[in-house]
Amino acid sequence: ASTAATSVSIAGDISSQLHGGYCHPLARAWQAERQLTKSMLIYPLFISDIDDEEVLIPSLPNQYRRGLNKLVPFLEPLVHKGLRSVVLFGVPMRPGAKDALGTSADDPNGPVIRSIQLLRQRFPQLFIVVDVCLCEYTNHGHCGILRDDGSLNNQLSVDRISDVAISYAKAGAHCVAPSDMNDGRIRAIKLKLIEEGIVHSVTLMSYAAKFSGCLYGPFRDAAGSTPSFGDRKCYQLPPGGRGLARRAIVRDINEGADIIMVKPAGQYLDIISDAKELGKDLPVAAYQVSGEFSMIHAAAKAGVFDLKAMAFESTEGILRAGATIIVSYFTPEFLDWLST
Ligand code: PBG
Ligand code: ZN
Repeated sequence: ASTAATSVSIAGDISSQLHGGYCHPLARAWQAERQLTKSMLIYPLFISDIDDEEVLIPSLPNQYRRGLNKLVPFLEPLVHKGLRSVVLFGVPMRPGAKDALGTSADDPNGPVIRSIQLLRQRFPQLFIVVDVCLCEYTNHGHCGILRDDGSLNNQLSVDRISDVAISYAKAGAHCVAPSDMNDGRIRAIKLKLIEEGIVHSVTLMSYAAKFSGCLYGPFRDAAGSTPSFGDRKCYQLPPGGRGLARRAIVRDINEGADIIMVKPAGQYLDIISDAKELGKDLPVAAYQVSGEFSMIHAAAKAGVFDLKAMAFESTEGILRAGATIIVSYFTPEFLDWLST
């Protein structure tokens, strides 16, 4: 009778025995649907119009604003370690470079267009993404052209932003990524790419679900793009707006986006997972934004956790949610960490 009781309790226990499936580091790695690889990473670069500049951004640890002359020496070792992609943000620093229309955004002698040309020539294998927005170039710091009452004029903004995107594409950008959140800009850019006969060779990545909030501060320090009045709540999404984000994602897929981005990442993992579900047939990108990066650094510095461990853990969460492209300020570190 005692033997029978033992076999019953062992049989009843089978489904509760999980440890054996992940007792080995490799077996643990197999639990993930997606493993972080170097080719998933896009590294943000802030490019100033002062060619010799190389300035540390105090609120964004280890990140610099660089002029054209500093770019190649900085990138050379990273490309050698396996850097596959960068996203460029132009930062006009010279007095008089900003106006109400963001005229300098597509200045052929401006930092973005010149750096696209330089990087294409010096790093032929590097995939060049270019952020498309006006906030760095407008004197009011908003992501478009304004009406007299200070609200966004959507039509004028879309016309202008789609022109800027075409200039970047013609200069050699592999991918244009509008981050402005004006309605209808994906369609406008796609149509102009068709008109120009370059739609077959340019990837269109939409910042489709971009939420307003307090995680963009260090970026605005870096890019000098803090709005001079008001905020971005009438064009960036409210943090609770999951349904609105789903509508924006579906809209941008229908307008011709090739890649859908969610931003920020860590606070919006449900949105990443929604994007993957709604856009089953598209790659989903996530932007671990400046505030997330700086928070992780601050907490590591305060002894809350180890920096590298949290860089991986936060990134693995983003992959688990469904992203396969990650815009990350940790990219240089990951290139080292993923080599060992
Ligand atoms: C705006 C833009 C923002 C970021 C990139 N492009 C946000 C904003 O200023 O509203 C944020 C990226 C980051 O915080 O790292 N066009
Ligand atoms: Zn903007």
